[in-house]
Amino acid sequence: IGNEWPGEPSSSYWRKQLDIAEDEIRQREFESARARVSRPELAGSLRARYLVALALDEEAEYRRNNDLLSRAIHAYMQLFKSSTQLSDNLLTQLATKTLSRIQFRGTYLSAEPVYRILIKRFPNEVSYRNNLTVTFLMANKPDLAAEVLKDTLKMWPDDRVALAHYGFVLKTHYKELEESVTMFRKALENDTGPACEPRFYYHLGDALLLLGRFAEADEVHRRGAAHGHFLSPAQRSLYNVDRLKSRPWWQVEETPYIKLANALERSWKEILKEGEAARALYEKEREGLKEKGEWSQLDLFVRGQEIPGRCKRAPVTCSIVRTEPAAANCRRGQIKFSLMAPGTHVRPHVGPTNCRLRMHLGLSNIKNTYIRVDRETRQWHLGKVLLFDDSFEHEVWHNGTGARLVLIVDVWHPDLTALERRQLPPI
Ligand code: LMR
Ligand code: MN
Repeated sequence: IGNEWPGEPSSSYWRKQLDIAEDEIRQREFESARARVSRPELAGSLRARYLVALALDEEAEYRRNNDLLSRAIHAYMQLFKSSTQLSDNLLTQLATKTLSRIQFRGTYLSAEPVYRILIKRFPNEVSYRNNLTVTFLMANKPDLAAEVLKDTLKMWPDDRVALAHYGFVLKTHYKELEESVTMFRKALENDTGPACEPRFYYHLGDALLLLGRFAEADEVHRRGAAHGHFLSPAQRSLYNVDRLKSRPWWQVEETPYIKLANALERSWKEILKEGEAARALYEKEREGLKEKGEWSQLDLFVRGQEIPGRCKRAPVTCSIVRTEPAAANCRRGQIKFSLMAPGTHVRPHVGPTNCRLRMHLGLSNIKNTYIRVDRETRQWHLGKVLLFDDSFEHEVWHNGTGARLVLIVDVWHPDLTALERRQLPPI
């Protein structure tokens, strides 16, 4: 980049050396290029230091080597120490290159100083601030993101990208639901602008559900669906394959999973025993889905992989689910026991993807327990399976006595091709 480097060496010999090094990088003679520009006579040349970084960068790409890439990023970063000497144009080009390498390497936080310099140089450019916000969120630093956001919104109170991200931080990290709704509403006003993305409609609707403002939630879900952010107002998963048949409740008979369901039903008593014997291993549900009560789960398979050693605890259950690859290999689902204490209410929510169907095998204490999927509420029966699509809004009540146990088996949506089952990224 750039032929406007400040502090070019005055002697034409050394300037020529820099040109040769640049050629060498093009010819993949990286070592030689680096040696050439590392001569003490070139110590003051920014272009020489840039070529060191570039040589490392190109070699990293050529050899697909992450250590070289880290060294390249480090070398680029050194150049920012002299950022005041760089023109606007050169600074932006250098920053773009550096940021793309940082993103590729996945070391998000190292982007911070670059963004800080860009924000200082271009104080009227809101996008650098918003990118810094996103960087902090990716690096799981919500407090730092919030600081940038507050600052940004002081200067740009109507910036929709900042408003939406602030709404997100307020909801998910600070649980300030009212405030987050206000932010989201402004960000998504008239359903136009750069913040009109599925995830922000999702979080606005979810915040309203959490607040018990159901009519408003419904209106947001309708709007979201009308603008194509959701499959429908009730089916609000964000990781979807579009053409799959959509319906809340399924009959096992209309799927290829009848054998699996029959086998589970035939062995339900042994499955119940296995689920009960492993009580000590259950873990509390942590997604904040319950409005009240106690709910814990024991994972057997997650994302199509057995939790190491788990099947020793539940050999019958595992041997059955292993007969159906669409269950045991379902990388967008889980197989788990789900134990719910009496008095529990799981608030309305949706699963992340429409690529799975969820089978439930009723095992114990199912009296006075209910599950609503979309508009239809059903009950479990001992030793019988239910099948539903958990990308639709669903809700669970345990109004009975004793801990309710069910086995949950996710299976690939029957409409997915073999290729999709192999290639869809796991969830
Ligand atoms: C859910 O999948 O959200 C619930 O149906 C789980 C359960 O244990 O009922
Ligand atoms: Mn659920």
